[in-house]
Amino acid sequence: MPRVLAIETSCDETAVAVVAADAAWPGFAPRQLSSVVASQIDLHAAYGGVVPEVASRQHVETLPFVLERALQQAGLEVAEVDAIAVTCAPGLVGSLLVGLMGAKTLALLYDKPLIGVHHLEGHLFSGFLAEPDLRPPCLCLLVSGGHTSLIWMKDYGDYQTVGRTRDDAAGEAFDKVARLLGLGYPGGPQIDRWAQQGDPQRFPLPEGKVEHPYDTSFSGLKTAVLRLVQQLQQQGQELPIADIAASFQARLTGALAQKAVACAEALGLSTLLLTGGVAANRELRARLTEAARQRGLRVVIPPLALCTDNAAMIGAAGLCHWLRGEVSPLELGVASRMPLEGIPSLYLGGGGAHTEEQTGSAAAVL
Ligand code: KG4
Ligand code: ZN
Repeated sequence: MPRVLAIETSCDETAVAVVAADAAWPGFAPRQLSSVVASQIDLHAAYGGVVPEVASRQHVETLPFVLERALQQAGLEVAEVDAIAVTCAPGLVGSLLVGLMGAKTLALLYDKPLIGVHHLEGHLFSGFLAEPDLRPPCLCLLVSGGHTSLIWMKDYGDYQTVGRTRDDAAGEAFDKVARLLGLGYPGGPQIDRWAQQGDPQRFPLPEGKVEHPYDTSFSGLKTAVLRLVQQLQQQGQELPIADIAASFQARLTGALAQKAVACAEALGLSTLLLTGGVAANRELRARLTEAARQRGLRVVIPPLALCTDNAAMIGAAGLCHWLRGEVSPLELGVASRMPLEGIPSLYLGGGGAHTEEQTGSAAAVL
């Protein structure tokens, strides 16, 4: 049974997991033997957002403990896994480097192949962990604090981004509107909670206008909420937080669900995968499920622990590359940005290691 140890430190979660493949390729069926996530959310809450320098220092402190616990939970030693997978792009450079250096150290010490993983490809693989019978092709709506993308997964390793945000990511829009309403960070869960008691029709807010049918824009919606708040404050009114939250949430999630379903239909795809931190949103889950049901599409929404950043999804993607014979050179670097089309460049024979920010060879660093 092939097994991969995976490390994820691209943003504010320090995560390690061990993932195994239950079925022989191409059946795949990845299964997590352990998954440990240490969130830094409390640390960054005081600043109202993630502070990169604070994040990377915390990863350095936490990673050894998370690694130890993940191995303990799996009942394995590093020597017993087949490869070390690690997120190398996109993300915060300092944070990515901590995970990559940790992975390179383990790869060198235990003489294991290194497998760099694109963070967004990891998110796609949360679907395969959740539902072992899932197979490409499918359309993935990835909504997080940093991304709002519609990704067409044609096959393992073959992806095309068919929709993206022109400005704020969905989670970012939730966080900014929550701040306007005086709610805490992260704002998504707060808006979700307040919206439960609100009237989604009280304030008709505009949907961002974009010419591309599957792209999104939330800055107009955010500005409309700002104007509404200012207007109500000028009138000396107490803010109807629940109604504003519900109106904003309905508009944003309605747009996402409608675009995802229309895109799946246009591409002739019968399966929709929803993932990323914003997949926690109850209204989005309900709207997408209902819109898909009306069109006879299958919707896969992994459990929340797999939707938010975790290392199991990185391990599942890494395992897929391992089974396909793709490993990364030890000179692999990190990149703050990388399109999904850059994935082949992470593997030997795929055009060399992509290095926007070169980190040098492992030997030189160690
Ligand atoms: O995927 P994630 O955990 O981290 C990255 O951005 O990589 O996503 C975090 C985002 C935050 O913006 C947070 O406000 C949002 O997901 N979020 C939610 C909910 N829970 C988390 N947004 C809307 N409704 C929620 N229930
Ligand atoms: Zn993520």
